[in-house]
Amino acid sequence: MDKEEILKNYERYVIPSYRKQNLIFVKGKGSYLWDIDGKKYLDFFPGWAVSGLGHCHPEIVEKIKKQVEILIHLSNNYYHPWQALLARKLSELSFGGKVFFCNSGAEANEAAIKLARLYGRRTKRYKIISMENSFHGRTLATVTMTGQRKYNEMFEPLPVGFIYAKFNDFSDLCEKIDNEVVAIILELIQGEGGINVIEKEYLENVKKICEEKDILLIFDEVQTGFGRTGKLFAYQVFGIEPDIMTLAKTLGGGFPVGAMIAKREISDLMSPGTHASTFGGSPLACVSCLAVLEAIEKDNLLENVKIMGNYLRNKLEELKKEFSIIRKVKGIGLMLAFEVERDGDKLVEICAENGLLINCTHGNIIRIMPAINIKKEEIDEGIEILRKSLKRMEFQ
Ligand SMILES: Cc1ncc(COP(=O)(O)O)c(C=O)c1O
Repeated sequence: MDKEEILKNYERYVIPSYRKQNLIFVKGKGSYLWDIDGKKYLDFFPGWAVSGLGHCHPEIVEKIKKQVEILIHLSNNYYHPWQALLARKLSELSFGGKVFFCNSGAEANEAAIKLARLYGRRTKRYKIISMENSFHGRTLATVTMTGQRKYNEMFEPLPVGFIYAKFNDFSDLCEKIDNEVVAIILELIQGEGGINVIEKEYLENVKKICEEKDILLIFDEVQTGFGRTGKLFAYQVFGIEPDIMTLAKTLGGGFPVGAMIAKREISDLMSPGTHASTFGGSPLACVSCLAVLEAIEKDNLLENVKIMGNYLRNKLEELKKEFSIIRKVKGIGLMLAFEVERDGDKLVEICAENGLLINCTHGNIIRIMPAINIKKEEIDEGIEILRKSLKRMEFQ
C-alpha cells in the first residue's frame, strides 16, 4: 500500500478517536523508527513507554518467536508454567502479593477498583479518591477515576463513587476522606498530567492515614513501572509500599499486557467468578514479560537509567540555560519533561521534521521518556535535534 492509500483507508475505515501526526512508520529497531519513505527517526517516546526497552528488542523477539511455536494462548481455566513463573517473579520483585493478569493499564486499574469494592463490602465502603490531573485509563470507570474533566465530562452520567483530591495537598485529601472511602489511588509521577512528582512527605502522610483508617493504598505504576525511575518500581524510590499496584506498558515490551498485584491479605477476595479477562496472562504474553524482566536484570538497565537519566537531565538543564522559552525541567530517571512558553505541539512537529519523536502534554509540557536502554550517543543526537528545533521555535 502506498502512503495515499494507507491514509485513505484510515479515513474511511478507522474510527478517528486519536489525534495523529502525519507520519507512517513501517519498521523499528532499538531507539529508532523508519517511516514509509525510509527516513530514520530517533524515538524519545517509544510507544508511550510501551516499547520501554526499545523497538523489537532482540531477546523479546527471539523468545516470542520460540513461544508461538509452542503455545500461544490458553484459557484461564487451566494452568501453565509461564504464568506461574511470571507471577512469582513479579511478586518476589515487589511486595510479595498475588497477581491478576489482563491486557492494558485501564484493565489493571479496573481490577484494582473491583478489588477495592470487594474489600469495602463488609464495612459498606466503596468510594475511591484519585488525584486532580491524574490519568488512569479510558474505560468508563477508569476515565471517571481520571481527575481531568476534559476526559470524562462528555460521558455523563458517570459511575458513582469517585472523588478527587489535589495532588500533594494533604489537608485537601483529609477533607475528602469520609467513612465511605475504601481506597486512594496515586501515580507517584503523574505522567499524562505533566510529569508531576509526588512529595515524599505527602506520600508518607497518605500511607499513615491509610493505615489508620483501613483505606487501601493503590499505586498506578502503569507508566512509572519497570525501570523508568532507576528502580524497578517507582514506589521503591520513596520506600513506601502500596496494598495494590497496577502495571502495563513496559511490562510486555510491546506485547499488550496488564497486571494488578495485591497484598495477600486482600487478593483472595477475588475468588472464582468475581473477575476475569479472556486473554489475560496467556503463555505468549507471559513469555514476553519474562523476557523484559530478564533483559532489565541481565543488561543492568536500572543502573543505565540512573546514569543516562542524570546525563539527559543535565543536557536538558543546559538547553534551559540556552533557550529562554524553556521554563522548567522535571521528573525522575528517564521520565523527564520540560515546560516551554510556546505551543508544545509545534515543537513536537518541528522535532519530527528534524527526525526526533517526543510528546507534548497539557499544551506546553514536553515529555521525554526514551527507552531505558538508551545510549549516551543517542541522547547526544536527540539533544542536538532538540537544540536545532528550539532555535527554529524561537524565531516563530
Ligand atoms: C498512569 C496510567 N494509568 C493507566 C493508563 C491506561 O493504560 P492503557 O492505555 O494501557 O489502558 C495509562 C496510559 O497512558 C497511564 O499512563
